[in-house]
Amino acid sequence: MFKANPDYLKLRGSYLFSTVANKQKAFQAANPDKKIIRLSIGDVTQPLAPVIIDALHKAVDEMAVAETFHGYAPDLGYEFLRKAAAENDYRARGCDIADDEIFISDGAKGDCGNIQEIFAKDCKVAVCDPVYPVYVDTNVMAGRTGVFDEASETWSDVIYMPCTAENNFMPEIPAETPDIIYLCFPNNPTGGVITKDALQGWVDYANKVGAVIIYDAAYEAYISEDNIPHSIYECEGARTCAIEIHSFSKNAGFTGVRLGYTVIPKDLKCGDVQLHSLWARRHGTKYNGAPYIIQKAGEAVYSAEGKKQLAEQVAYYMKNAAYISNGLKEAGYEVYGGVNAPYIWLKTPDNMTSWEFFDKLLEQANVVGTPGSGFGPSGEHYFRLTAFGSYENTVEAIDRIKKM
Ligand SMILES: Cc1ncc(COP(=O)(O)O)c(C=O)c1O
Repeated sequence: MFKANPDYLKLRGSYLFSTVANKQKAFQAANPDKKIIRLSIGDVTQPLAPVIIDALHKAVDEMAVAETFHGYAPDLGYEFLRKAAAENDYRARGCDIADDEIFISDGAKGDCGNIQEIFAKDCKVAVCDPVYPVYVDTNVMAGRTGVFDEASETWSDVIYMPCTAENNFMPEIPAETPDIIYLCFPNNPTGGVITKDALQGWVDYANKVGAVIIYDAAYEAYISEDNIPHSIYECEGARTCAIEIHSFSKNAGFTGVRLGYTVIPKDLKCGDVQLHSLWARRHGTKYNGAPYIIQKAGEAVYSAEGKKQLAEQVAYYMKNAAYISNGLKEAGYEVYGGVNAPYIWLKTPDNMTSWEFFDKLLEQANVVGTPGSGFGPSGEHYFRLTAFGSYENTVEAIDRIKKM
């Protein structure tokens, strides 16, 4: 008789967003006349920029002709895209990253989840709390997290680094030494950012203790202030301790198109073993490459016109962020984020739990947000709203919240 993977059986309840979706569905079924506005899931709403659409059309036409048809893509990505990413996202910023240190994929979620496969099972993982749930859940699936404690809502073998208003949403070096440290800045869900000096501190620490930092830069395009690093490779020594993960979802609206990449410098080694080689081996065995059509669309992101159009798209969402942030402040809420990130993180009023506030918002304003506790125990009494809606819906949602 077969047995299910026991580590999968340890996973907690349903995924945060399915619980949110189920509650929304039940409310809509009971109140069919109400217009619900979703400021919950981090999906974009603006159509793909014209430059991306043009690139897609052109690539599709190429697929119709034998001479320009493309079959399996190279496992690690087409050279044109690896070069464009290395050149624009790194070398243009003074970061020493070679084209062949970029591994193209179908998005950051898969890379965030799969990257743990190249580490030993007894590696100790540290995560920020609250955190993007994928980092913890995929380590649960891999059997790396120990036993779940219902009372504290934590895993015995995971090191949690609380990020709350008290420490300005900045993780502190943990008492116990981790092997793998997940960092994500600009942060989902808090909208917080890290200064270059603070990130340098993490790089120095990782090099000192022999840890690897998995740096999720999915929201890098939203950085608006100076002295906020766009990449961990802006820090000295990051080539020997950091892996960086990128997405095309939030800077270019590729959530439904699917494209991302992971950077692994060849200097990142465990003894003689390059993590670069292990990830290349993994890609070669388990992945057959992102589609040519999509990689051509990704290349257009780096064109002069692409950069201009996408900056406008980011500005559109950040106008929403400002509206949400200012509106909530006017209504007396304690509000964080929304300046260098498309997320607004607010403290729930009157010490309500995150789910109590979720229900109140849904019932009284017909607005759906995301309860902070879904991102980890330190997210309790916080709540996340996203700036990814249309401007009209965002304005309507905030005006309704102000009247609550
Ligand atoms: C922190 C973070 N990393 C990665 C992702 C996933 O990005 P992608 O759409 O490229 O899979 C998300 C999506 O919301 C995210 O919030």
